Amino acid sequence: MCGIVGYFGPLNPKDIILSGLKRLEYRGYDSAGVAIIHQGGLKRIRAEGKLVNLETKLKNEKFDGRLGIGHTRWATHGVPSERNAHPHLVKGLSLVHNGIIENYLEIREALQKRGADITSDTDSELVAHLLAEEVEKTKDLFKAVQNVLGMLRGAFSILAIWDQQPDQLVAFKDGPPLVVGIGKDEAFVVSDVQAVLQYTKKFIYLEDREIAVVKVGKVQIFSALGLRLEKPVVELNWTSEQVDKLGFAHYMLKEIYEQPQAVVAAMEPHIDLKNQSVRLKNVGFGHSPQSLDGLNSITDWQETQNIFAKIEKIFIVACGTSFYAGQIGKYLIENIAQLPVETDIASEFRYRKPIFSKNTLMISISQSGETADTLAAVRLAKEKGLTTLSICNVKNSTIDREASGHMYMNSGTEVGVASTKAFASTLTVLHCLTLALAKARGLLNIETEKDHILHLQKVPSQMEVVLAYDKYFAEAANSLKEFRGFLYMGRGVSYPIAMEGALKLKELAYLHAEGYAAGEMKHGPLALIDSRMAIVMVVPDDDLFEKSISNLEEARARGGKIISIGTVDNLRLKSVSDRYLGLPKAHWSITPLLSVIPLQLMAYHLANSLEYDVDQPRNLAKSVTVE
Ligand code: AGP
Repeated sequence: MCGIVGYFGPLNPKDIILSGLKRLEYRGYDSAGVAIIHQGGLKRIRAEGKLVNLETKLKNEKFDGRLGIGHTRWATHGVPSERNAHPHLVKGLSLVHNGIIENYLEIREALQKRGADITSDTDSELVAHLLAEEVEKTKDLFKAVQNVLGMLRGAFSILAIWDQQPDQLVAFKDGPPLVVGIGKDEAFVVSDVQAVLQYTKKFIYLEDREIAVVKVGKVQIFSALGLRLEKPVVELNWTSEQVDKLGFAHYMLKEIYEQPQAVVAAMEPHIDLKNQSVRLKNVGFGHSPQSLDGLNSITDWQETQNIFAKIEKIFIVACGTSFYAGQIGKYLIENIAQLPVETDIASEFRYRKPIFSKNTLMISISQSGETADTLAAVRLAKEKGLTTLSICNVKNSTIDREASGHMYMNSGTEVGVASTKAFASTLTVLHCLTLALAKARGLLNIETEKDHILHLQKVPSQMEVVLAYDKYFAEAANSLKEFRGFLYMGRGVSYPIAMEGALKLKELAYLHAEGYAAGEMKHGPLALIDSRMAIVMVVPDDDLFEKSISNLEEARARGGKIISIGTVDNLRLKSVSDRYLGLPKAHWSITPLLSVIPLQLMAYHLANSLEYDVDQPRNLAKSVTVE
C-alpha cells in the first residue's frame, strides 16, 4: 500500500506533492520521490527512508514545470532503497504505482529479451518500460496507457506523465483507490482525498478499469476501451464529525478501511524491511510499559530470544474477537514455530484450574487492555509463575502494565464497538511473534523468513483490493436479511474467521449466526440447513479446499444458500455457490487477514440496511471491564 499524489496547475508542484505525501505517509514510508517537469524534461528526485529525507533533498531544488507526480512507498517487490523508490523514469516517461503486478516475472523476462535497461527490483519499473515502449509507437500517453493495461494482471493504480506531453497526467485504477481532485484551473490525482482536502473539496472517484486524462481545466474519464464516461463530481462538504470519520458514514466503516495501514503500523516496529528479517522491538520482559522506549533494542531482542528459546508450551487467552485472533495464532505458532498452543476464552480459563507445565508462556490479547476476564487470566498466570506477554492496543492499560512482556497492535484508537482494525493488527503482531518464536528455536532459515515477510508485505495492497467488496455488500444487504439464520463455516485457519464473521453479524445486525468448523457439519449443524439458511463458507485455495468443497456441496444439496469467500478465479467454488467472492491468492497464513474483510463488510451493511446503530450496537460496550 503506497501513497500517490499527482498535480497539474499554476502552483509549485513540489510543495503540493510534498504536503500531500505527508498526509499519506501512513500508507507507507520506506522511501519516497517526486518527478516534475523541468526545462522541457522530467527531473526526478528520490530518497530512501522517511519522507523527511526527501524533503531535505528537495529543499533547494527548483522546478520550472507545473506538472508532477510523487509517491511514498510500502515495499512489496524490492527492498526499501533509493533505486527501488518511485517515481520510476524511463526515457522521459515517469510513473508511480500502488498495488501488485502479478505477472511481473513474465514481463521482466520479455523486457530483458528486448534489451530493456532495468535498474530496480520492482514490478512498478517494468510498467514504466512498457509505457515508454508504447508511447514511442503511439506518440500519445493516453493511448500508450490503454495498450499497456491489457498487458498487466494484478491490482494496480498508476499515475503516468511524459515529457513529450507536459500538458497532461494520465491515471488508471484497477484495485487500489485513486481519486481526481478538481480545483480552479488545477487538478490533483491522489490515493486518498486526505492528501489535498485543503486545496479542493471536489472529487471524481475512479472505478476499476477507468482512465483519467487530466489537463488544466479539463478532466476526462474513459473506460479501458477508450469510451468517454460522464462521472459525477462529488463535493465533500464534511462536518467536523465527518472529517473525523474521513467522510465515512460510521467509525466502523472507516476502521475497516484503515486495516491496510493498521497492518503496516503493527508490523513496522518488528520487521527489518531492508534485510527482510524479523526483530521484535522492545518487548521488554520484566519492564514497565513506560520504560520500553528507553531500552536498548539490540539487548532487548537478545533477551526476548533467550526467553523464547526456553518456552515449551503456550497459552493464548482472550475474549470475543481477540480470542478468535488468538485461535489463528495457535495455527500460526504450531505450524511455523512448532510449539504446542492451548487457546481459551478468559472467562473459562480463570475458573477451570488449568494445568501449567514449566517454561510456559501465557499470551493475553486485548484491544482495550481492560477486559476483566482477560485481566483475571493474566493475574492467574502470573500467580502460577508463567511468563506473561500481552498484545494490547492501549499502551499502559491495566493488562499491559500487569503483563511482563509487551507488544502493541498500534492500530490507533478503535471507536467502533465491533472490533475490526484491531483484529487485523493482532493477526499481524501474531505473525511477527510466530516468526520470532521460530527464529529463537532455530526453525526459521533465511529464505523461509524472507518468504514470510514478503507474504506480510503484500497484505496492505491485497486488502485494498478486497475492500472493493464494500460496494457489493451495500447492494446485497437487502436480499441477505431475508434469511432466518446464518451458518458460518471454515476449516483450519478459516475456522476462527468463520467464528469472527458470525460474531460480527450477531453484534451488529442482531441476526442469529453460528460459526462452526466445517468438518463438524455431519455432527449436527446439517440438520439446520434448508433454503432459508445462509451458509457463509470461507474456502481459500489451501490444503483443505477439497474437504471444504464437499462440506459445501452437502449444504447445497439440502437447499442451503451458499455465500463463499474463496480465492480469485476458482471456477469450481463459483459453480457451487449462490454468491462467490474471490480474494487475492495468498499464503495459507495470510488468508485470514483477507477473508475477514468481506465478513466485516457483510455484517456492517446488513446492520446499516436494518438501520441499527453500527458504532454502538445495543447491549454492548467497547470494553467489558466487569464480569
Ligand atoms: C468484538 O467486536 C467485540 N467488541 C468483543 O468481542 C471484544 O472483542 C471483546 O470484548 C474483547 O475486547 P478486548 O479485545 O478489548 O479485550
